[in-house]
Amino acid sequence: MDKKTFYITTPIYYPSDNLHIGHAYSTVAADCMARFKRMQGFDVYYLTGTDEHGQKLERVARAAGREPIEYIDEIVAGIRKLWDTLLISNTDFIRTTEKRHQEVVQKIFTTVYEKGDIYKSEYEGWYCTPCETYFTARQLDEGKCPDCGREVELLKEESYFFKMGKYAQQLLDHIEAHPDFIKPESRRNEVVNFIRSGLEDLCVSRTTFKWGIPVPFDSSHVVYVWFDALINYISALGYGDPASENAKYWPADVHLMAKDILRFHAIIWPTMLMAADIPLPKKVFAHGWIMLEGGKMSKSKGNVVDPMILVERYGVDAVRYYLLRELSYGQDGAYSEELMISRINSELANDLGNLVSRTVAMILRYFDGEIPPPEGRLQDLDIEVQAMAGHTFTEATLKLEGLDFSGYTQAILRLVSRANKYIDETEPWLLAKDPEQRDRLGTVLYHLVECIRITTTMLLPAMPTLAERLQAQAPLFADPARIGWDQAGRWGLTPPGEQVSKGDALFPRIDIKLWEEQQAGEQPAQAAASGPEAEPAPPEITIDDFAKMDLRVGEVIACEKMPKADKLLISQVKVGEEIRTIVSGIAPWYEPEEMIGKKVVVVANLKPVKLRGVLSQGMILAASSSDEDRWVHVVTIDDDRIQAGDRIK
Ligand code: MSP
Repeated sequence: MDKKTFYITTPIYYPSDNLHIGHAYSTVAADCMARFKRMQGFDVYYLTGTDEHGQKLERVARAAGREPIEYIDEIVAGIRKLWDTLLISNTDFIRTTEKRHQEVVQKIFTTVYEKGDIYKSEYEGWYCTPCETYFTARQLDEGKCPDCGREVELLKEESYFFKMGKYAQQLLDHIEAHPDFIKPESRRNEVVNFIRSGLEDLCVSRTTFKWGIPVPFDSSHVVYVWFDALINYISALGYGDPASENAKYWPADVHLMAKDILRFHAIIWPTMLMAADIPLPKKVFAHGWIMLEGGKMSKSKGNVVDPMILVERYGVDAVRYYLLRELSYGQDGAYSEELMISRINSELANDLGNLVSRTVAMILRYFDGEIPPPEGRLQDLDIEVQAMAGHTFTEATLKLEGLDFSGYTQAILRLVSRANKYIDETEPWLLAKDPEQRDRLGTVLYHLVECIRITTTMLLPAMPTLAERLQAQAPLFADPARIGWDQAGRWGLTPPGEQVSKGDALFPRIDIKLWEEQQAGEQPAQAAASGPEAEPAPPEITIDDFAKMDLRVGEVIACEKMPKADKLLISQVKVGEEIRTIVSGIAPWYEPEEMIGKKVVVVANLKPVKLRGVLSQGMILAASSSDEDRWVHVVTIDDDRIQAGDRIK
């Protein structure tokens, strides 16, 4: 029997500039879904691509002194590389400048025209070039574009119009009959209200520029860029070509995007399909935006974050995990590199990494690396952990089915925390001391192995390289080829007797201090993801170099925890007559009260840097051990004759 198909798409992105983590979010989310469905045994078609026409792209290319296609080719090569780096497993990559796409656009335009649903008329409206959209005077926001806030111009042109209004009722009926068509629910209500307020016919051609697909029967017009772009979802499948083997994937299971372009997908696209007598996609899903301090990330604001750099620093799995984890279902989410580091350290390095390394270490120590069988009577704790693993599997599956990626990762991490707590509760190191408890010890370790196997299998759609890295330690921990998704949640599938071996830390802890120093321009960026032992030895300096450093004695007069940050303390430090605010990553080793009264060494001429919104005016020096359980000790001056403000040289 043929496998069931699953077709998922991302928006096709404008190749006007390199993409940022906002775009990466949509593509990683769709990838997670595609991998999940493959693990479930579906025949998946995952499409992404680029939207290459329109006046804006033409202008950007010409401003760079290039022919549009040359300019675009280069950006597209970068986008493909980015998707490779992020391990995006797309089946296809469509470019709207490809012949296969242009032919389908022209075919659909002609079909709808011949049906009488496209007609020629004259259009006058307020046009926003960056958004490629006309607005009525009523829609403007204080005379500016209501979407991007920029200047608009009054344009009049002969145009073709699509009778979108004709399909308003049919669309409302469809939305009502298919409650899952637009998700999340709140967005669906917005779309319904918008349609109810009246759908006007849509202008679907332009004569003011040439960089587009010509209207087949009137070459002075090019097809409006959204009418062109939306068709990618079927042109990629070879729509209309009887020889195409991919027609079976339509209708799409999910069009995934952010809320900014939901209306195009939930109104224009379905009405176009209705006019062309093509079935509608099953679901249109809009996630929220990744926000930076200062608002939505956008190329025009210049506040974009390059995902390539993040992957270089933190590794692809960690970046993917963070993106999926951070955006709650349908909501906007804040991005900051600090937040990302703290999630990687607490959830991946500490919770997951420690669970694996502690379990493997104990199996090596107590059972020569051979996974022991569960023997003897189970205790309530064991049964509880088993039940939780089963529930977590069901919950994570449901969350993924519903495109709630954050809910999915959180459910899994709850199981990881439970398993870590189980270690503390069962105290295997004590069991190991008593030969009578050998069976019990085996049972406990077997339960941990099963928790890890279920956890890591469930994490594979989010973190594709986890399997490889884990398999060095235990062949079964994440081997979807042996245990597919549907089986993965069943307890007891690990055959006792399999061997485990010691491996590298799954997710090395990121040295936040080092990172903070880099932020202040102190260290090269590539040192970011390494542990303390990997710090390169600094180059030799002269006495003059050293003299550039203004080291002073500072007295801590107040200290508090940084809200919502596990690692940071904010100290008020008296340096001479001045009181400085200094943020330090020492909270794991010092309570705020312990710091008060200490005479510490302050780098007083370090360029101030904002950490979590607090301006840190200097650095408190501390010694840090280089072993695995890094210990930090603040350097203090223990002599009453030395006063705050005194120089250290
Ligand atoms: N070319 C159109 C889409 C045509 S689809 C037929 C377009 N391109 S875009 O390059 O502007 O991409 C917009 C999409 O990128 C958003 O809908 C979203 O999927 C993603 N994101 C861009 N910035 C984002 C954030 N800051 N946060 C989350 N997603 C973001 O619109």
